Amino acid sequence: MIVVNDLHKHFSGFHAVDGASLTIEEGSITGLIGPNGAGKTTLFNVIAGVLPPTSGTVTMAGEDITGLPPHTLFHKGLLRTFQIAHEFHSMTCRENLMMVPGGQSGEKLWNTWFGRKRIANEERALRAKADEVLEFLTVEHLADQKAGQISGGQKKLLELGRTMMVDAKIVFLDEVGAGVNRTLLNTIGDAILRLNQERGYTFVVIEHDMEFIGRLCDPVICMAEGRVLATGTLPEIKANEQVIEAYLGTGLKNKEKVGA
Ligand SMILES: Nc1ncnc2c1ncn2[C@@H]1O[C@H](COP(=O)(O)OP(=O)(O)OP(=O)(O)O)[C@@H](O)[C@H]1O
Ligand SMILES: [Mg+2]
Repeated sequence: MIVVNDLHKHFSGFHAVDGASLTIEEGSITGLIGPNGAGKTTLFNVIAGVLPPTSGTVTMAGEDITGLPPHTLFHKGLLRTFQIAHEFHSMTCRENLMMVPGGQSGEKLWNTWFGRKRIANEERALRAKADEVLEFLTVEHLADQKAGQISGGQKKLLELGRTMMVDAKIVFLDEVGAGVNRTLLNTIGDAILRLNQERGYTFVVIEHDMEFIGRLCDPVICMAEGRVLATGTLPEIKANEQVIEAYLGTGLKNKEKVGA
């Protein structure tokens, strides 16, 4: 579904992504792991159009999407969440979901003059959709809470919810599990599995929690120093010499994380 070919992203001489090539199969939940600073988030940013690549190409279903802006990719069904959640603090969780652009008529002035009824209908539909998403994520009790007041984990869930407000084809999740307790992490995992199985979403998941990766992801891609080191099942990745070395090189903390 997505083919990344020899992608480079340099920041004033520093090669954050340094010739990464990989394939994301349609219908998969692909894991992306690697030590801190491996270039995972930068790779996401380039694929999702947040950063222009220095060189290399990205194709989606055979179409060259290299460097297309996020809103164009959004309309093609390519969505991403952020390592740091970015919700609208003073709005409720429901309102945050309703803000996700999906071609509502209400945004255009012309429509506010000529289509009041249509807007009211659309708003009702959006509200119902937002409530359905909150229910799917088992957090319907948060609907009227201000997004600034919910926990970090719940914010991550809300981020995932945003991707469910539109007909996504492929969703890039950057550390949805960071700072999330085990129970909420399981809820997020369940939602990802159901979206994959019931709605055909393809996922690419960056995560440091190997239990989470092992439960959800096949295949797993391991990056280090801007390149892809290995691709395979999590047990294969864990047994890979280069992977172990990459994690060892960054200290004991990461070694424990990969279970090496
Ligand atoms: N805008 C930037 N300017 C300069 N250097 C950057 C920029 N963004 C990222 N980098 C550097 O590029 C490297 C890769 O960063 P990136 O955030 O992609 O890593 P990561 O694999 O997501 O790490 P983590 O697991 O810690 O989130 C890091 O050394 C980082 O400091
Ligand atoms: Mg990152």
